[in-house]
Amino acid sequence: MNIKERIKELNVPSLFTSFGRPVSTKEDFEALKPDILDLFQREEYGYMPKAPDSVRVEVIDEKKQFFAGKGKNAHYRLYATYEGRELSFPFSAATPNYTGSKIPVFVNIAFDPTPNFRQPTTEIIDRGYAVFTVCYKDCTSDDGDFENGVAKILGMDRSDPHATGKIAMWSWCVSRVIDYIYTLDIFDHDKLAVIGHSRLGKTTLLTAAFDERVKFACVNDSGNSGDALSRGTAGETIADITKRFPYWFCPAYQKYAGNEDSLPFDQHYLLSAVAPRALVIGTAKDDLWADPKNEFLALTLTNDVYKLYGKVGLIHPEEIPEAPFKLQEGSISFHTRLGNHCLSREDWNNYMDFIDKF
Ligand code: GCU
Repeated sequence: MNIKERIKELNVPSLFTSFGRPVSTKEDFEALKPDILDLFQREEYGYMPKAPDSVRVEVIDEKKQFFAGKGKNAHYRLYATYEGRELSFPFSAATPNYTGSKIPVFVNIAFDPTPNFRQPTTEIIDRGYAVFTVCYKDCTSDDGDFENGVAKILGMDRSDPHATGKIAMWSWCVSRVIDYIYTLDIFDHDKLAVIGHSRLGKTTLLTAAFDERVKFACVNDSGNSGDALSRGTAGETIADITKRFPYWFCPAYQKYAGNEDSLPFDQHYLLSAVAPRALVIGTAKDDLWADPKNEFLALTLTNDVYKLYGKVGLIHPEEIPEAPFKLQEGSISFHTRLGNHCLSREDWNNYMDFIDKF
């Protein structure tokens, strides 16, 4: 598939023209960014709750000399005050022993409360990284109930077309863990990565777009309403996703079901909002529901924004390569591995290989 030809066929909007404002310098783009984020809040994910008044963290338990004596394993509970009300959620952290050089760190917004095959913790520690793990359902349930967990406090009336969806709420929680990491100076804040798979890849991308402290957005198999173009998808459509998971989004998003061409943006606008920080994207050959080709196409469309910052985004050939492949020479990393929908050890290693290079 020739990339340029396919993009022409899809007739995707360009953020360089669609706002009716000139965007030829990085300052123009910075000035546009709040409008891009506003568009995604109003039309897709709902309003991102504002930052809390305060955050504190309580240690539940800590085990030193863990991971073959190479690190510490700990469980915590984070409390935040939001408009005078308190909310809380648990998280865990695996940290290699501090030897004087700052530790690169992941925040994994995870499906599971206990790290399993989707988080190879000992290998992450062996490679010198720390990993903070937040189980998304510990923040609020993955359903249309807005009365539990953080949703009880952050939630808006769902009759508001722009009401905060669950993805934005999970994303808000990730930013609270980052608040905590920022109070700890053993961590390398220039190597702060957020990682998530699938619906949590969508959450990771949204977090990176909103929270500039995220330096590496490791977005795994995020597909529709994540890193894939919605126009011309060969996989999941907006009708599919809003039918099964309406509560991930704001109610206004429904109007684009079966009507992708009327979207005043496409997902490359959200990817672009992460520039000039690193997009680190993983897909899998057989994950057709997420549409690896449309994920690739969306990413190539961010390159002109990286250029404004004097950076090279994704260095890629004219055709989408045959899987498996890995492109890691620019400021953007993209790989398609063999296999299906999963956050695998290979994905983690590809992400760490890329971050190691910085
Ligand atoms: C469903 C959904 C996807 C989502 C995936 C997941 O397949 O349709 O959009 O990414 O679940 O989160 O595993």
